[in-house]
Amino acid sequence: MNLTKKMRILRRYVLNVRKLPMMLPTFVSTMTEAKNDTINRYGTEFASKTDSYDLSEYHRALHTMIRILKPEIVIETGVFEGHSSLSILSALKENNKGFLYSIDLPSPDLPSGKVPGWMVPEHLRKRWDLRAGKSSDLLPTLLLEVKEVDIFLHDSEHSYETMYWEYKTAWAHIKTRGLILSHDVSQNAAFRDFAQYVSEDYYYMMKNLGGIKRTK
Ligand SMILES: C[S@@+](CC[C@H](N)C(=O)[O-])C[C@H]1O[C@@H](n2cnc3c(N)ncnc32)[C@H](O)[C@@H]1O
Repeated sequence: MNLTKKMRILRRYVLNVRKLPMMLPTFVSTMTEAKNDTINRYGTEFASKTDSYDLSEYHRALHTMIRILKPEIVIETGVFEGHSSLSILSALKENNKGFLYSIDLPSPDLPSGKVPGWMVPEHLRKRWDLRAGKSSDLLPTLLLEVKEVDIFLHDSEHSYETMYWEYKTAWAHIKTRGLILSHDVSQNAAFRDFAQYVSEDYYYMMKNLGGIKRTK
């Protein structure tokens, strides 16, 4: 990657993080802490469970946002082996506050004999409710149960219809100053279209991770 491109990415990252409800220096220092913290505290355990243990920048950013924003209720769709759940749950544990609800349609691509979220250790599961099924079947009921959500993360099926439907369904329950986060936002126009629909700005935290803050 040449220097101009690197500078462009850095500039976009800095501008976007500043607009989300976080101070940039706090984000950067917590992101560094997340790398050391999550990997040192939880990495060894996972390294023994999987050959491919690595928390990507996306997962460290999730951990960082949870550490800074200290949400009460987080919902995610799409768990697979559990990297994002682990990143969120480890931050909730550090915060000593908050609860994660996850919805996942078990994937045929899971390693043989493994269940969704298999890599999340027992001691992180106290703050976790994992439900198996399609988001279209489970999300409406879950939202009625929890009533209000601080952070909703989409990372399930990345079709336009599913993404847009999940954002729209969750939005009615997002608290003011709460967030919709989405992975794989560049797959299609659903994220941008939804931001326009709710008349809010959208931000790319990094490649493929988008955020919309509810301001009203
Ligand atoms: C991209 S993976 C999730 C990755 C995970 N968030 C992480 O960071 O490691 C997508 C997951 O969503 C599940 N999925 C696919 N369609 C779904 C649907 N309609 N509702 C809920 N989960 C779905 C898949 O089976 C898979 O487990």
